[in-house]
Amino acid sequence: MNVSLDLTAYLKQNREVVDRALEKCLPTEKRFPGALFRAMRYSLFAGGKRIRPILVLAACDALGGDRENALPPACALELIHTYSLIHDDLPAMDNDDLRRGIATNHKVFGEATAILAGDALLTHAFQVLADVEGSTLSEQDRLRIVGEVASAAGASGMVAGQVVDILCEGDRAVDQPTLEFIHTHKTGAMIRASLRVGAIAGGADASALQALTLYGDRIGLAFQITDDILDLEGDEAVLGKQVGSDLKKGKTTYPAFHGIPESRRRARELVDSAVADLAEFDSRAEPLRAIAGYIVERIR
Ligand code: IPE
Ligand code: IPE
Ligand code: MG
Ligand code: MG
Ligand code: MG
Repeated sequence: MNVSLDLTAYLKQNREVVDRALEKCLPTEKRFPGALFRAMRYSLFAGGKRIRPILVLAACDALGGDRENALPPACALELIHTYSLIHDDLPAMDNDDLRRGIATNHKVFGEATAILAGDALLTHAFQVLADVEGSTLSEQDRLRIVGEVASAAGASGMVAGQVVDILCEGDRAVDQPTLEFIHTHKTGAMIRASLRVGAIAGGADASALQALTLYGDRIGLAFQITDDILDLEGDEAVLGKQVGSDLKKGKTTYPAFHGIPESRRRARELVDSAVADLAEFDSRAEPLRAIAGYIVERIR
């Protein structure tokens, strides 16, 4: 095992790679209508962790693939994730005022522009995937990637989870399978897709794709359990979003259901299993192994 991986440096360096790629694929604020492009860029470049695009790159690297093929899906997933955050914060949904350390999109641009900026980021993701320049992937693999992204983002993925999250607000009788459905869909689906599109871009065979999918499923659930814990115990200044938001809204969260110690134990168990899922990979999967631990140890 390569114990010398400096994860902090790795994440910083790859955040920069992702930010450069995102900058290239998004029109500047000078384009008309400026209000729309300002709103899109405001949330996109507010300083997210970029964990989904980094997972795409790390999965591709684990297979020795060409990163150029992984960058468009990496950007697409971050564009969609950012749209999901803008909409998640709206008054009709979680009604939050702080995101990525700054005022939420609708607080600055108004609800209508925030909704439309989200719509535009979602649509732009597919535009980015449609751009063939520089890709050496087969058309079939590029279509598979489009399908993965669409199903992760839509009614069989993130949107389904968000709907159940909202419908269960304030319901104290929610059961464990429903809690798990919310978490694996609203958050897990996009994280699972990050691994799968990275794997496809890296030329994975069926067995590698399966292993990376399992890893993604486990860290995806662990990611949302940790998000729930941070909502209770996090430091607002570090987290960049308001703490206590879930309690206020009566959200179905892991700690509300199981308590904090059991939630922590479960998240840790999931990341340990996720690392075990990578047994067939060599040292090129070291970043993925390290990221698994980061998912539960992070403070933002
Ligand atoms: C927050 O995601 C929303 C969830 C799906 C839990 P992140 O914690 O990845 O947020 P950013 O992208 O770093 O802002
Ligand atoms: C949101 O879950 C998941 C999304 C699809 C955006 P949360 O509502 O818990 O995310 P935060 O805590 O506001 O980032
Ligand atoms: Mg929410
Ligand atoms: Mg929220
Ligand atoms: Mg949350």
